[in-house]
Amino acid sequence: MRRSLLACAVAAALAPLPAAAPAWAQACNPATAQSPVSFDRDIQRIFDLHCVECHGEGEPPANLVLDVGHAWSNLVDHVSMESDLLRVAPGASEKSYLWHKVRGTHLTVGGTGDRMPFDRAPVPDDMIAQLTAWIGDCAPNN
Ligand code: HEC
Repeated sequence: MRRSLLACAVAAALAPLPAAAPAWAQACNPATAQSPVSFDRDIQRIFDLHCVECHGEGEPPANLVLDVGHAWSNLVDHVSMESDLLRVAPGASEKSYLWHKVRGTHLTVGGTGDRMPFDRAPVPDDMIAQLTAWIGDCAPNN
């Protein structure tokens, strides 16, 4: 199932705008998008403070590396291990598994496991708001 989803994602990335792509996917291009929230300054800081303790290089849980230089490519348009959602779906936070994991709503979208950060206090609301805004702005690598 996951393998075929990945194949679809690759095919979709290579195909010139498939007619079946949902509106949010067509409207969003992370390569050209802009956001007042900076991935390098704001989003990576969340991961540095709350996530890389576990999600560093080596053998991180769910094969998810969130440290500097790896986080963006491990998230954006990347299929999650625990659900059928992408980890980050540009333009659509409610379709982004990482967003559900930090809010604790991941079980409502077919996910598994615990709220992130695992066994720690939740990420502060202002940081979740930054994640929501950045994903809504098409998740640029800015
Ligand atoms: C104390 C260790 C620990 C910390 C800190 C931690 N995680 Fe995790 N993470 C895990 C474990 C263990 C799993 C797999 C089990 C589960 O989901 O509960 C996981 C799974 C995940 C997944 C699922 C990935 C997939 O592809 O399905 C995401 C997304 C995630 N973590 C994001 C985060 C984020 C974002 C942070 C920081 C806000 C974070 N984690 C902090 C241990 C941690």
